[in-house]
Amino acid sequence: MKHTKIFSFCNQKGGVGKTTSAINLATGLAQRDHKILLIDLDPQGNSTSGLGVSKTGALSTTYQLIVDNLNPQDVAVETKIKNLRIIPSNSELSGADIELISIDEREFRLSKAISRARVDYDYIFIDCPPSLGLLTVNALTASDLIIIPLQCEYYALEGLGQLLQVFTLVKEKLNPALEIGGVLLTMADFRTKLTEQVIQEVQTYFKEKVFKAVIPRSVRLSEAPSFGQPGIVYDPASKGSKCYQEVVSEFIERFPAVSHGESLDQQKPRDSIEVQIGEEKTP
Ligand SMILES: Nc1ncnc2c1ncn2[C@@H]1O[C@H](COP(=O)(O)OP(=O)(O)O)[C@@H](O)[C@H]1O
Ligand SMILES: [Mg+2]
Repeated sequence: MKHTKIFSFCNQKGGVGKTTSAINLATGLAQRDHKILLIDLDPQGNSTSGLGVSKTGALSTTYQLIVDNLNPQDVAVETKIKNLRIIPSNSELSGADIELISIDEREFRLSKAISRARVDYDYIFIDCPPSLGLLTVNALTASDLIIIPLQCEYYALEGLGQLLQVFTLVKEKLNPALEIGGVLLTMADFRTKLTEQVIQEVQTYFKEKVFKAVIPRSVRLSEAPSFGQPGIVYDPASKGSKCYQEVVSEFIERFPAVSHGESLDQQKPRDSIEVQIGEEKTP
């Protein structure tokens, strides 16, 4: 049996690099022969279009997966990247936050749906919307680990208290196995002193959870979605792409895929940190 790990890319702030990180890490893992499913849980559908999949052409989307209870294998579509499939999303999903309220076991809809897909993939990624509503709660309930992308800016840690509060609530009430998998620093501008300060601050707070590779601000990464390609495919030689490949290597080291027949005991133990809630930190 495979032990597929499920990761949510989560931060209620928009524009911090959730989608860019989810797409590029998923692609990097797929290039290294891992089977990946990316679930677009954002009604904006940026990871859908960013992988060159039509938002309007999709017959079924994440909406049907969680609201209509369709099978993951009937909703997932191929991308141009070998080994990478996506469950697309579009604006239809924006109603789900409200519609889910009146549905039975509303926090577990995604978790139940994905459990049927686990055997088919090495890793499942969920690209979360920029909010902490029911969709994100569904993602956290369905996940083994969360990855928190943080933009290297003055307010990087602002709002984190809220995110960690929801994380802790979900862990206590809905999904005791949930852990923080990593914190990924994005859009760093190494010309400014502030960037170094923010990196240090985040490392002090999250310690070994922070990925060593820090993603630089890169025009090539920001151009890639308009070509329906992940940055690491659009321009593999760019600094940003190389840096995402470094994160992929770190990721595999932290979370080795356990393939058929391999015992779970052979996995590396996970580091854990105590998360302090309520201590809103700003650099
Ligand atoms: N390292 C980067 N350098 C430059 N632009 C980036 C970088 N990462 C992301 N972007 C751009 O910033 C915007 C927000 O990123 P995105 O990944 O969509 O964030 P989120 O999913 O958190 O809202 C997008 O236009 C994206 O192309
Ligand atoms: Mg996004």
